[in-house]
Amino acid sequence: MQFFIDTANVDEIREAWDMGIISGVTTNPSLIAKEGKDYMKTLKEITDIVDGPISGEVKASTTTAEGMIAEGREIAKIHKNMVVKIPMTTEGLKAVKVLTAEGIHTNVTLVFSASQALLAARAGATYVSPFLGRLDDISTDGITLIEDIMQIFEMYPDITTQVICASIRHPMHIVECAKTGADIATVPYKVLMQMTKHPLTDIGIARFKKDYESVFGK
Ligand code: G3P
Repeated sequence: MQFFIDTANVDEIREAWDMGIISGVTTNPSLIAKEGKDYMKTLKEITDIVDGPISGEVKASTTTAEGMIAEGREIAKIHKNMVVKIPMTTEGLKAVKVLTAEGIHTNVTLVFSASQALLAARAGATYVSPFLGRLDDISTDGITLIEDIMQIFEMYPDITTQVICASIRHPMHIVECAKTGADIATVPYKVLMQMTKHPLTDIGIARFKKDYESVFGK
């Protein structure tokens, strides 16, 4: 399973990229709005940091296929690595079909059921993004959704759509996603940092330091 970082914060992206742990970035309108900077310039800045797929979403106010196609083309022009993120609606599926035919990569977002994921795959989506955390939030098991999608996609070799586990809230989501064979998890910076931690690692480092310094000094 590969990791993307789920943020529009360029400092977090740079830090994760320098650690060698991420191969792409996902953003959404909420994440870019949080940074308070120009939408398209923020996406451009991210392409200067990460050499890998970068998802930029069509405007949250755009609901027609025509609108999403026009915006998708503009997003794709930013850089060859740009992936156009499109909401899982009937209009969104039409936009995916057209953009895919033009060779533009797409990521169908706000996927909450296996049937939605299957439709997005058939429309030609490069990626689908099922949201685990938001399902867990409403007492529905998000991991079961990932398992179902993986099982279905693996049964049909003509489906090449990759699964991005999204709305990740904690490190155990990552472990459970990896066990399903999912292609990618897009992870907030905070969770990536939580994944690096183990109390026995900290205790081990402190003990090595103490033992070393007791014999060799500082
Ligand atoms: O990028 C989409 C997704 O990861 C959002 O996560 O935490 O807002 O449910 P969250």
